[in-house]
Amino acid sequence: MNVFGVDIGGTGIKGAPVDLEKGDLADERCKVATPHPATPEAVVEGVAEVVAHFGYQGPIGITFPGVVVDGVTRTAANVDRHWIGTDARTLLGDRLGQPVVVLNDADAAGVAEMTFGAGRGHGGTVIMLTLGTGIGSAVFVDGTLVPNTELGHLELHGHDAEKRASVKAREDEELSWEHWAHRLKKYLAHVEMLFSPDLFVIGGGVSRKADKFLPHIHGVSAPIVPAELQNNAGIVGAAMAAAKL
Ligand code: BGC
Repeated sequence: MNVFGVDIGGTGIKGAPVDLEKGDLADERCKVATPHPATPEAVVEGVAEVVAHFGYQGPIGITFPGVVVDGVTRTAANVDRHWIGTDARTLLGDRLGQPVVVLNDADAAGVAEMTFGAGRGHGGTVIMLTLGTGIGSAVFVDGTLVPNTELGHLELHGHDAEKRASVKAREDEELSWEHWAHRLKKYLAHVEMLFSPDLFVIGGGVSRKADKFLPHIHGVSAPIVPAELQNNAGIVGAAMAAAKL
């Protein structure tokens, strides 16, 4: 069965029908630029454009880069503030005219990785961290997700951790891979001190370049592995959530 997944990100809104048996896209994905400002109304139009590209009808899963509780978006670290307190499920469902589920982007990516990727079959505590514009987190205990954990906003040396250790921080500050890995190591050590996970999975587009930074990370006890679904994990996880509608 194919179900549609959409991933709302800071730079792009990406979507595709997903083959839920394979855990992979069933068609080439469609991407439109995230509007600026990324207000709810403008982003909803972007999502509608992506879905219309495929003429898809049926349940749709949509990720959002912030806390989502019962379809209501509660935070907006990297999108327009008007999302805070918005009933995104109703807004998107009414515009698309289809049943929708809205969930946190890292939670969606994590569920996809736990089912089809690097976390497959893993028990114990697994923490997936998505590194991009921000840092997203998905925490699993024996395969069960604890949603909306927001570990990217832990305080590290007096700073919001994602401001120091995200991919955006590396780019904005023009840090070498080694320098950035050093920051990432401090962040991972902090998360490890709090949760003692059995495995870290590193996601986001940067997971493709894991060989550039993972070898520089020492002093973290848990194994650290790159995600396998990379940039499609959010779309796949969103579709998996929609399949339950
Ligand atoms: C948000 C998280 C999100 C992460 C990745 C953070 O700034 O607070 O909810 O998962 O960015 O997009």
